[in-house]
Amino acid sequence: MTSTAPKTYRVKSFGCQMNVYDGDRMSELLTQQGLSAAPEGEDADLVVLNTCHIREKAAEKVYSDIGRLRRDDGTVPLIAVAGCVAQAEGEEIMARAPSVKMVVGPQAYHRLPDMLERAKAGQRVTDTDMPAQTKFDALPKTRRANTSTFLTVQEGCDKFCTYCVVPYTRGAEISRPFKDLAEEARRLVEAGAREITLLGQNVNAWTGDNDKGQQVGLEGLIRDLAAIPDLARIRYTTSHPNDMTQALIDAHGEVDKLMPYLHLPVQSGSDRILRAMNRSHTVESYLEILKRVRAARPDIALSGDFIVGFPGETEEDFADTLRLIDQVSYSAAFSFKYSPRPGTPAATMDEQIAAEVMDDRLKRLQALVIEKQTAFNQASVGKVTQVLIEKRGRLEGQWLGKSPWLQSVHFEGDVAVGDLVTVELLQAGPNSLAGRLVF
Ligand code: SAH
Ligand code: SF4
Ligand code: F3S
Repeated sequence: MTSTAPKTYRVKSFGCQMNVYDGDRMSELLTQQGLSAAPEGEDADLVVLNTCHIREKAAEKVYSDIGRLRRDDGTVPLIAVAGCVAQAEGEEIMARAPSVKMVVGPQAYHRLPDMLERAKAGQRVTDTDMPAQTKFDALPKTRRANTSTFLTVQEGCDKFCTYCVVPYTRGAEISRPFKDLAEEARRLVEAGAREITLLGQNVNAWTGDNDKGQQVGLEGLIRDLAAIPDLARIRYTTSHPNDMTQALIDAHGEVDKLMPYLHLPVQSGSDRILRAMNRSHTVESYLEILKRVRAARPDIALSGDFIVGFPGETEEDFADTLRLIDQVSYSAAFSFKYSPRPGTPAATMDEQIAAEVMDDRLKRLQALVIEKQTAFNQASVGKVTQVLIEKRGRLEGQWLGKSPWLQSVHFEGDVAVGDLVTVELLQAGPNSLAGRLVF
């Protein structure tokens, strides 16, 4: 039996922003255990691969990443696989990758310290429980924060879209209590966060009792956080059309700190496909929501997610999706080729679409999205707006930040990370804008 006592760690997160949040929390746990983060470019004694299972390649990537962790001298670090692949394929990973010593699911990672003790003693440990008591209560209270930081407020999904693994990997929908979130947000701001993005698989399904004992939706939480003086900006993602309440829409018109950006995935522009996806909204009901959102906040930037090549998708269905994108004029959009996920209903549906057809549709869809994105950015040229500085740019003296509409903006000036500055937008490309510091 070998015994290893890791001193340094590295957490590598893949997939969605919630994995980034979870990865940060695991780092905090490991720090609390006395380990330190491995410096950039140096090998770590313990590597946590915090994985995503949403599409095929993501899972395959895990195995190649495991392989790549082998060092030149043939040794391997202590490897833990966390995240959604761990949840879905934990046993398979243990069987297929002997160098993996720990497998931990997204609802069990608060038990990582204990698992580490057992792994140090030479055991291989799997924990993919979904305990009734939430992990959040067991996580360290002290938080680290970047200028722009994530805060998980809601987790899990009860929607069961027929293509999606999330309800299986993350479990049922839960909302974290208002009080815990209000406290965590304040700690994040004390640690330097100026922007908080509230996260959830269905973030707008969040509900809780506020400090007056009234039941509120996400807008209630947003209004409370907006009262934190040093917090400049609030965002939230990802929302489901069915949980887009009028109260939340109204908040977009009333809460200055709530940024004018809404990510509201629709997936397809064809009602027939939406029905097969079990999305439980139609194109019309989706557009009606956007109309109300735009009435509350006319300058709002809209983004969405699209799947091309869902089983049975005809050229006509796809044309409907293109039409919807054209009509909405998204400021950004994420698009994916349908990937059959084991155990989901769509994986065994008839009429799976050929790879070449999907490739072609994805290319056409992305070309249209780039066109819309570029047009949106170009329409911003000439605006004088606030930019929150997140990091240094590639060039000497250059800074990178985000506009209220989540556009990347670069400019020069005597400023610092975390500053909220006024910038004139001068030039636009598909993915970023160049600006001039006004003050
Ligand atoms: N909870 C969010 C996002 C879930 S995953 C929502 O409901 O919108 C992020 C995106 O991945 C989805 O919006 C969808 O576009 C895409 N996706 C999910 N499962 C997929 C699959 N099997 N194949 C291709 N894309 C998928
Ligand atoms: Fe997946 Fe649908 Fe739930 Fe989003 S709403 S996480 S796409 S099942
Ligand atoms: Fe991926 Fe799990 Fe997020 S499957 S997208 S890491 S919820």
